[in-house]
Amino acid sequence: MPRSETIIPLEELRRPRDTFSRPIRDLRISVMDRCNFRCPYCMPRETFHAKYRFLGSGERLSFDEIVRVARLFVQLGVRKLRLTGGEPLLRANLPDLIGDLTAIPGIEDVALTTNGVLLSQHAAELKAAGLKRVTVSLDSLDPATFAKMSGELGSVEEVLNGIAHARRAGLAPIKVNTVIQRGTNDSTVLDLVEHFRGTDVIVRFIEYMDVGNRNDWRAELVVPSKDLLARISARWPLEALERNYRGEVAERYAFADGRGEIGFISSVTQPFCGNCSRARLSSDGVLYTCLFATAGTSLRDALRGGASDEQLLERIRAVWLARADRYSELRARLRATAAEPKVEMYYIGG
Ligand code: GTP
Ligand code: 5AD
Ligand code: SF4
Ligand code: SF4
Repeated sequence: MPRSETIIPLEELRRPRDTFSRPIRDLRISVMDRCNFRCPYCMPRETFHAKYRFLGSGERLSFDEIVRVARLFVQLGVRKLRLTGGEPLLRANLPDLIGDLTAIPGIEDVALTTNGVLLSQHAAELKAAGLKRVTVSLDSLDPATFAKMSGELGSVEEVLNGIAHARRAGLAPIKVNTVIQRGTNDSTVLDLVEHFRGTDVIVRFIEYMDVGNRNDWRAELVVPSKDLLARISARWPLEALERNYRGEVAERYAFADGRGEIGFISSVTQPFCGNCSRARLSSDGVLYTCLFATAGTSLRDALRGGASDEQLLERIRAVWLARADRYSELRARLRATAAEPKVEMYYIGG
C-alpha cells in the first residue's frame, strides 16, 4: 500500500515552535511605560511617584523600529497584534503607528488595551487609522471602588464615555477587562454585568494574578472564576460557548436569554500555558516570552546597530525555540523557589 504523505508547506517549516511545540501567533507590543492611572495592583503610588524614572523618549522604540520588528514576527507566524502600555494612548501620534501596522500583509487582527479615559478624544482617529477593536479595563462601576482600584485617578464616567465613543466610532467588539480582588470589588460584579447586559460590550473577569513584584499578591485575594460564574448564573442563566480561536485566554458564556456574552480569564485556577502563543515586546524593545518572565532579550541594540533582517530573525527564532515558559502551571513551585524579580506588568502591558 502506498504511504500517505503529509506535505508541510515551506512557510510552515520556517515558523519556530518552542520546547512545548507552541507556535508564535500573537505579539503584544507595549508602546508606553507611563500610565495616567496608579492601580495599586499594577503601579502602586509608593513606587511610581513623581520622581520615578520612566523611559526617556529616545529609549523607546520608534514607530519605524516597531513596524520593522512586527514585520519580522509576521514572517515567524504572528497574525495578531495587540498594543498595550502602561497606557498606550499616552503615546503621541499612535494612529500613525496603527496605520502602518494594519497595513502589514499577514496581520489579521490589531487590537488595543486601554484604561479608556483618552478614548473619547481618540476613538474616531484610531478607527480611521485601521484599528479594529479595543479592550477597556474597568474594575467597578461603583465610584469609590473604582477610585480605590485606579489609584484615585480617572472616573467611571470618563471610562464609560470613552466606551461610548469607541462604539460610535465602530470599534467592535468592545471588551471590558475587570480584575477581581476579593474584598475590594467582588461585591460590585453583578452591577457591572447588569450594566453591560444587552449591549454588545463583552465583560471579562480576570483572576487577580501575581504579576510583577510590587503588588502584595496573596492567594486569598483571588476569587476563583467558578465561584463568580455560580453567582452570576444564579441571577442570569448562562450557557458555555466554544472558544473563538485556539489559545483564547477567556472562557466564554452566553446569557441564556440571548442578551450577550461574558468571559472569564482564570490564569490562576485554570492555567492556559499549554496553548500560549504570545510574545511580548516592551516599549524599549525587550522581547519577553512570558508575562511572568524574569529576563528578556533586547532587540533594540541590534535594531540600532545595523543588524540585517536575517540577523534579527535569527535572534528572535532562537529565543522562541528555547522557550520553556509555563509559569501559571508551575505557580506554587516557582513562587516558593523564586530567586529573581519578575518583569513588571505596566512595562509589558499584561
Ligand atoms: P482577545 O484577543 O480579545 O481574546 O484578547 P486577549 O484576551 O488575548 O487579550 P487581553 O489583553 O484582553 O487579555 C486579557 C487579560 O488576560 C490580560 O490583561 C492578562 O491579564 C490576561 N492574559 C492575557 N494573556 C495572558 C497570558 O499569556 N498569560 C496570563 N497568565 N495571563 C494573560
Ligand atoms: N492581575 C490580573 N490582571 C491584571 N491587570 C493588571 N494587573 C493585573 C493583575 N495583577 C490587567 C489590567 C488590564 C490588563 C492590561 O491587565 O486590569 O485589564
Ligand atoms: Fe495603568 Fe492598566 Fe496598570 Fe492600571 S492596570 S496602572 S490602567 S497600565
Ligand atoms: Fe503564557 Fe506565561 Fe501566561 Fe503561561 S504564564 S499563559 S506561558 S504568558
